[in-house]
Amino acid sequence: MIFYFSGTGNSYRAATALAAALGEERVIAIADAVADRTFGYRLTAGEPLGFVFPVYCYSLPQTVTDFLAHLQLTGAADPYVFAVITCGECTGNAAGVLTGRLKSLGLKISASFGLVMPNNSIPWYPADTGAQADRIRRAADVRLVDIAAAVKTRQTVEDRSTAGKMPGLHTALAARSYQKYRHTSHFSVAPFCTGCGRCAEVCPDRIIKSKTNGSPEWTAPQCSLCLACMNRCPNQSIFYDGSAGRGGQWFDPEYRSFLRNR
Ligand SMILES: Cc1cc2nc3c(=O)[nH]c(=O)nc-3n(C[C@H](O)[C@H](O)[C@H](O)COP(=O)(O)O)c2cc1C
Repeated sequence: MIFYFSGTGNSYRAATALAAALGEERVIAIADAVADRTFGYRLTAGEPLGFVFPVYCYSLPQTVTDFLAHLQLTGAADPYVFAVITCGECTGNAAGVLTGRLKSLGLKISASFGLVMPNNSIPWYPADTGAQADRIRRAADVRLVDIAAAVKTRQTVEDRSTAGKMPGLHTALAARSYQKYRHTSHFSVAPFCTGCGRCAEVCPDRIIKSKTNGSPEWTAPQCSLCLACMNRCPNQSIFYDGSAGRGGQWFDPEYRSFLRNR
């Protein structure tokens, strides 16, 4: 069973690639589970348990934290647990934070991997786009083959390749910023918004509603800050702190069609 959270499709791509390689049929969207308050799951004997999600401010997306606070697992005791944390560059100590959360559920993580994928944090850094995004994705696809092989053979792995320097310090320092950044009051909508409703469609937290003119309204004071709304807006009319970002947008084209078809 693989649980994933994804804003712009990278982690979804990783989760589904791993599921295909492992022959795993259950790929569960954490955001849907939280929105629907579905927290009880049963593992079968020998089934691996995976968590795949992006790093936000060197730690876990709030929706993942909320999910882990309520998760109730039954079935196989002591499963093989693995995690893949996607990032633009650096995961800090996100794997350590996850290890702590899983420990309080009585779960021990056996393998954790950081995986560089196209960057989507456009209020702070330019998005990876075009040939650059293709190159990063191809490298990630190759790496996913190795990750799947490690999981298949139940290896113990603590991958530090994306942890960066002083990971514990970065994670600790960024925690408070993340809580401030994820206030939805940071978002605004430009007058040229066409009211197409894409932002509401892609919001995994399901907190964007379309007003009668179609333009978005955030219905909760905070969100996970996945930035799918900004990255998916066809004419870059969603602003964060008054700006459309540092340049470009990233939204996995395959995730786009998956969302449209589900
Ligand atoms: C709010 C926010 C914070 C982020 N923080 C980090 C970070 O600390 N380190 C990093 O390397 N990438 C960071 N990123 C980039 C994402 O982790 C990366 O692009 C990820 O693969 C996106 O996954 P998704 O497409 O499944 O949403 C951040 C992105 C967002 C939206």
